[in-house]
Amino acid sequence: MPVTTRGIRDILALAPVIPVLTITDAAAAVPLARVLLEAGLPVLEVTLRTAVALEAIEAIASEVPETIVGAGTVLDARQFSAAVGAGSRFVVSPGFSKELAAEARVSGVPLLPGAVTATEIMAALSEGLDTLKFFPAAQAGGASLLKAFSGPFGAVRFCPTGGIDVGNAHEYLSLGNVLCVGMSSIAPAALIDAGDFRSIGERARAAAALSQVG
Ligand code: 3PG
Repeated sequence: MPVTTRGIRDILALAPVIPVLTITDAAAAVPLARVLLEAGLPVLEVTLRTAVALEAIEAIASEVPETIVGAGTVLDARQFSAAVGAGSRFVVSPGFSKELAAEARVSGVPLLPGAVTATEIMAALSEGLDTLKFFPAAQAGGASLLKAFSGPFGAVRFCPTGGIDVGNAHEYLSLGNVLCVGMSSIAPAALIDAGDFRSIGERARAAAALSQVG
């Protein structure tokens, strides 16, 4: 199916939580995407941390087209291009680089780069990227650091990820500069590997019920 160039802010506005998925068995990808979609989470990040990640993205993109699947842990242009080739509709990187910004421009597929300092935010802004992953959120300073960025960087919007779960997500989601949050705890590897889609569905429903302010 064709890759869309839907804006990253539109994608991040679709649900309060983006599950960050690390998939080790490609056969789990489609049932997982379906259970998350049914629970109200239509945007997923599949990390490129396993040998089957691209295959998993490809399966979700072709078999669950209502889901907007993105690739995470993308570190360079080669991985960006492979992720897009597999059907990723957006790309997430833990940090910012000019190489990734250039690839995003060429491909037309939106990039959500990580930034956690004023200098990194300014580097991303200098490439026209004003929607960022705040990673690792809790470890870097949490919601209070993010709130402080709303002064100098009032037009920037964030998707914080790292140390966030359903219990503390409201601290971030209540900020005006936060569009949504990312978390791996919706579908941790242990539950995916055990095929426990019922528990994953319950976690996803609780996440989908969180309010989204930004
Ligand atoms: C990521 O891969 O983006 C983060 O490591 C996810 O963070 P979490 O596991 O703390 O939710």
